[in-house]
Amino acid sequence: MAHEDIFKKLVSHCKEYGYVFPSSEIYDGLAAVYDYGQYGVELKNNIKKYWWDSMVLMHDNIVGLDSAIFMHPTIWKASGHVDAFNDPLIDNKDSKKRYRADVLIEEHLEKFSEKIDREVEKAKARFGEKFDEALYRSTNPRILEIQEKYDLLHKKFIDAMAGPDLAAIRQIIIDSEIVCPVSGTRNWTEVRQFNLMFSTEIGATSDGAMKIYLRPETAQGIFVNFLNVQKTGRMKLPFGIAQIGKAFRNEIVARQFIFRMREFEQMEMQFFVKPGTELEWFRQWKEARMKWHRALGFGDENYRFHDHDKLAHYANAASDIEYKFPFGFKEVEGIHSRTDFDLKQHQEYSGKKMQYFDPEKNESYIPYVIETSIGVDRMFLQVMAASYYEEDLTREDGVPDSRVVLRLPSVLAPVKLAVLPLVRKDTLPEISRRISDELKFDFNCQYDEKDSIGKRYRRQDAIGTPYCITIDYQSVDDETVTIRYRDTMLQERVPISRLRAIIADKVSLREQLKKL
Ligand code: GAP
Repeated sequence: MAHEDIFKKLVSHCKEYGYVFPSSEIYDGLAAVYDYGQYGVELKNNIKKYWWDSMVLMHDNIVGLDSAIFMHPTIWKASGHVDAFNDPLIDNKDSKKRYRADVLIEEHLEKFSEKIDREVEKAKARFGEKFDEALYRSTNPRILEIQEKYDLLHKKFIDAMAGPDLAAIRQIIIDSEIVCPVSGTRNWTEVRQFNLMFSTEIGATSDGAMKIYLRPETAQGIFVNFLNVQKTGRMKLPFGIAQIGKAFRNEIVARQFIFRMREFEQMEMQFFVKPGTELEWFRQWKEARMKWHRALGFGDENYRFHDHDKLAHYANAASDIEYKFPFGFKEVEGIHSRTDFDLKQHQEYSGKKMQYFDPEKNESYIPYVIETSIGVDRMFLQVMAASYYEEDLTREDGVPDSRVVLRLPSVLAPVKLAVLPLVRKDTLPEISRRISDELKFDFNCQYDEKDSIGKRYRRQDAIGTPYCITIDYQSVDDETVTIRYRDTMLQERVPISRLRAIIADKVSLREQLKKL
């Protein structure tokens, strides 16, 4: 099935099974804003807990924070967001559609890589076992030709964005003959800058009101509280502050479901280090964060680093962790070496010292910062995309059957187990209720007695419940039940008295964290 079709199916699955709804749906929705349903909110909370515990519980020198969304507007002047948090926009005059000019060019560049991959795939099929991919990529004339074109265009793009030189960005679009995906024409406007921050007013009267911004990142709340936390927590360098919270960006190109939203959540950690040690810490955090992703078991080959050529105004190194979504490798998380830029700026704009007193050196200085920043919603989409499977279960006698299953890691699954009496009579419902009432203290547990057992299994597969406990007539006699495993559909008979321990072991966040 085409990747786009799978993605469309995933989006409708999210809605149909209570994971994600379009916001304000009965009023025809609000673009790029979404609500999380009964299972979505549980998955989201589990993702956040995995992140929070891996940062705050697992590190003696990382503590949490929950700063306000509203902040003094000068913070955004100091951080550079008022002047530089812009996207270059371009409109197609025929379709009247608006695009991010840089995204149009990036998508065009992506086609070069796809062409190369296609050449490699063809050669792989031709040469079979003996195929040396690295050698082929570095010597095949056709590939080298495509790569040269890519490098040339890529350099032009990086130079144009560095300014940014808006005329040069437009010229790349014209020269590359990029067309509007809707009208198919090349009738483009000039490129303009557009600030992504939402603003509102605080205060009652119009003359007393102050223009403020909804934070476009949670990081600044950490920076302005850096000394509060350091002093009250008696923290010594290196140390980190972690925060999970909402962020808001007036994204122009709102596409790909919850990949790019206008209201979203971030999990950010700022790690304060001695100047001069930041690139070593940057390396270590890159590795640690990649390990966190890979520990979920979605396949190491589906992740890669993308080191930035064009650095943000505050960074001296930056890398993204990308995941292979159905629409290609895309950023899930950013790791940035932010230097002392933010603290220095806040020191200058607030007039307050933002320095750390180093007892070993007996001197004060502004620390450098490594940031790890991941979107909760984007991580949610990554987990869903990696977990969604359509399986053909056609029987040996030819009777067609299939299922949609979410192979969510047990530790993240919204519902950990379903308790299902085989039939709704005799004492089976009572035994099932007793089991479910006991287990619900420890696990998110669902009791279901409606419809055939087969239909109930399918319902649980579709929401990603890893374990189904079935209570049958044997349970009445010997106090045993079966556990059905979602992924293999195999069943195992176990004593009711052992259920809690068995499930606890399988869904344990402790075991997950031990992998890190
Ligand atoms: N403090 C640094 C920062 O905000 P960023 O690369 O702009 O860096 C970090 O954002 C992460 O936040 C991204 O890797 C992505 O996961 C998430 N993110 C950013 N913009 C988003 C949006 N519009 N919708 C959903 N997630 C977004």
